[in-house]
Amino acid sequence: MIENFTEEEKRGFYKAIYSRRDVRSHFILKPIEDRVLSKILHAAHHAPSVGFSQPWNFILIKDIETKKKIKESFEEEKTRSSQLVKELKKTKYLSFKLEGILESPVNLCVTYDPTKFGPFVIGRSSIPEAGLYSVCCAIQNLWLSARTEGVGLGWVSILSNEILKETLALPEHVIPVAYLCLGYVDEFAENPDLQTAGWLPRLDLKDVVYFEKWNDKKNESWDSIQKMIRNNLDYA
Ligand SMILES: Cc1cc2nc3c(=O)[nH]c(=O)nc-3n(C[C@H](O)[C@H](O)[C@H](O)COP(=O)(O)O)c2cc1C
Repeated sequence: MIENFTEEEKRGFYKAIYSRRDVRSHFILKPIEDRVLSKILHAAHHAPSVGFSQPWNFILIKDIETKKKIKESFEEEKTRSSQLVKELKKTKYLSFKLEGILESPVNLCVTYDPTKFGPFVIGRSSIPEAGLYSVCCAIQNLWLSARTEGVGLGWVSILSNEILKETLALPEHVIPVAYLCLGYVDEFAENPDLQTAGWLPRLDLKDVVYFEKWNDKKNESWDSIQKMIRNNLDYA
């Protein structure tokens, strides 16, 4: 028998999705209880994975020296990447707070180990990236679970993977996928910070959903859902 979600459970599920935010500031001093951190890690570990390969590992970090090294790498990479931004937008880009490495009590590196249960993994022989996608599924579980527990999470990808590998003593074949900053916060913003800052807008759903073929946005056999999508019904 299928056990369906009650209306209240559904509301809770969508609340986690729509109120999840990438958090870089607003961390407060309250430590994350081990019980809560453990729940979040369990949620991540129950993500789907190609061939059930569970190719992730989670490295928990609180050592201040490690955090400082990672922060240094962030500063270097942020300066480097700012050279790619056109002059008009550069000042704005440089003013953004894009990490909370030192302010968050827990940093967490999520890694991908392509050798786990390998070399043959069901479903990965044609699309090797499926291993990496699995790790991203785990990260999304982690992110939603953290939000459900009131814990903020910020993903920092402005980093050198080489520095990360060296600092965390990763074996050569293990790939760092995400460097995350976790901690309780005093606010979850209503909208993405980059949207509020006017950097980019959220696209309309109607512009990203196609029917049957690439770029087909008007297809009679999908009439009713097209109307719903076009009216931008807000389910949040
Ligand atoms: C793969 C990935 C990498 C990201 N890297 C950074 C980062 O380096 N710094 C940052 O401030 N936010 C980073 N973010 C957060 C995004 O900017 C954020 O998800 C997006 O603006 C939408 O906001 P929301 O997550 O609050 O909905 C990253 C998100 C993802 C999924």
